[in-house]
Amino acid sequence: MFNKRTKIKELLATEPAGREVTVMGWVRTFRNNQFIALNDGSTNQNLQVVATLGLLNDETLKRITTGASLKVIGEVVPSSGKGQKIELKAASIEILGDSDPEKYPLQPKKHSLEFLREIAHLRFRTNTFGAVFRIRHSLAFAIHKFFNDKGFVYLHTPIITASDAEGAGEMFRVTTLPFDNPPRNDDGSINFKEDFFGKSTNLTVSGQLEGELAAMAFSDIYTFGPTFRAENSNTTRHLAEFWMIEPEMAFYDIEDNMNLAEEFIKYIIQYAMDNNRDDLEFLAQRLADEEKQLPQDKRSELGLIEKLEFVLNNAFERITYTEAIDILLNSSHYKKKKFQYEVKWGIDLQSEHERYLVEKHFKKPVIVTGYPAAIKAFYMRMNDDGKTVAAMDILAPGIGEIVGGSQREERYDKLTERMEAMHVPVEEMQWYLDTRRFGSVPHAGFGLGFERMVQFVTGMTNIRDVIPFARTPKNCEF
Ligand code: 4AD
Ligand code: MG
Repeated sequence: MFNKRTKIKELLATEPAGREVTVMGWVRTFRNNQFIALNDGSTNQNLQVVATLGLLNDETLKRITTGASLKVIGEVVPSSGKGQKIELKAASIEILGDSDPEKYPLQPKKHSLEFLREIAHLRFRTNTFGAVFRIRHSLAFAIHKFFNDKGFVYLHTPIITASDAEGAGEMFRVTTLPFDNPPRNDDGSINFKEDFFGKSTNLTVSGQLEGELAAMAFSDIYTFGPTFRAENSNTTRHLAEFWMIEPEMAFYDIEDNMNLAEEFIKYIIQYAMDNNRDDLEFLAQRLADEEKQLPQDKRSELGLIEKLEFVLNNAFERITYTEAIDILLNSSHYKKKKFQYEVKWGIDLQSEHERYLVEKHFKKPVIVTGYPAAIKAFYMRMNDDGKTVAAMDILAPGIGEIVGGSQREERYDKLTERMEAMHVPVEEMQWYLDTRRFGSVPHAGFGLGFERMVQFVTGMTNIRDVIPFARTPKNCEF
């Protein structure tokens, strides 16, 4: 019985006047005891259901409230109301689930994003989050399509791991040892031999190292999975649990890597433009309304759709880290002492620096290469200057770093030298070094932060609003 349901998106697209259909969804509004705006999440457009006078008794009419779920059977008829071409003339309305209007937190009015974060279990039922999560879905689908069409193998890398791929030490420990009385070694340290895996383990910060192993067999692979970082960054761009896409390609140098990353980002944006136009237009309007409250100089120069079109139609700027530092040092912003953090060769670019480069200077996505070796991970390939590595970060307007990647150090001696210098436990990483012992090849890859990408496409300013249930410092609800 339930599978005879027609989705509202399909009804509104095909407008099959005269057909009898069954629809199910949730009431958004109910006007004049007659007009129900019904939404089933297939689109932000509501279906107008008309309950002709006399169809329902007073008892049932009272139960049609915002948030209640209904099953409606009726005939599709042309609509005389404005805003829709068709409506559903109900022959029967069944209430599947009541929603007490006194208690239902989502009223048919504008709620703040902060409030909606607190009721994240219900916010899917709003227009904004309907649009955001349909777009998130589309981007995920487009990512698989992009790589599948290019013959990449989707690799599921482990979530529990004993290695710190990024060497940043920002990991969540995985253990079954008792907190109150853990087994200890003679020197008082914890004896992880007694732990579940017989060693100290963590949630992964990246699937890259395992990805590299597979790339040495399949040539081209990608991962797309959750990653975890225990960095105490309470910003609009950091999550403790986020999703990352990490392609890894044999026989690629840094140039090939940049080209693939740019093509990839443009492809998935184009996919959303082609398949989520309504939702993008809704979010564009939302953003424009929100920005009206900001002072002129804080508003975006381009609307959301124009911004995406601009990115699609223009090559990303490509500069070296050294050039980036020069641009910053020569900026009037620097001369007026407007940067909070120091600018000099060797610093890790802060988000204010990245945003200056993309938002003020170039006004488009920028790929920065050739970072100082000292501030980047051990696996990045040393350049001939002996100071910089073949790293590449992609910086996006409004977001900052969206991609981090590099050509990998494929030379065994250089890699072990670097590992030792950076105190990476060489003994425990023999499996990784085997790729450099047996048939090593030049290879490269990158990681795209999925939520930051969703932020970029949807224009949502807080990363907590593009993942269903955000995990951030001191916050793990739902
Ligand atoms: O630059 P990152 O740390 O690079 C890596 O993890 C490499 N192993 C990737 C690779 O070469 N295969 O992280 C990659 C991207 C960042 O550019 C950013 O977009 C995102 O992951 N990211 C985060 N997103 C949300 N919250 C956080 N805490 C993030 N940390 C990184
Ligand atoms: Mg990075």
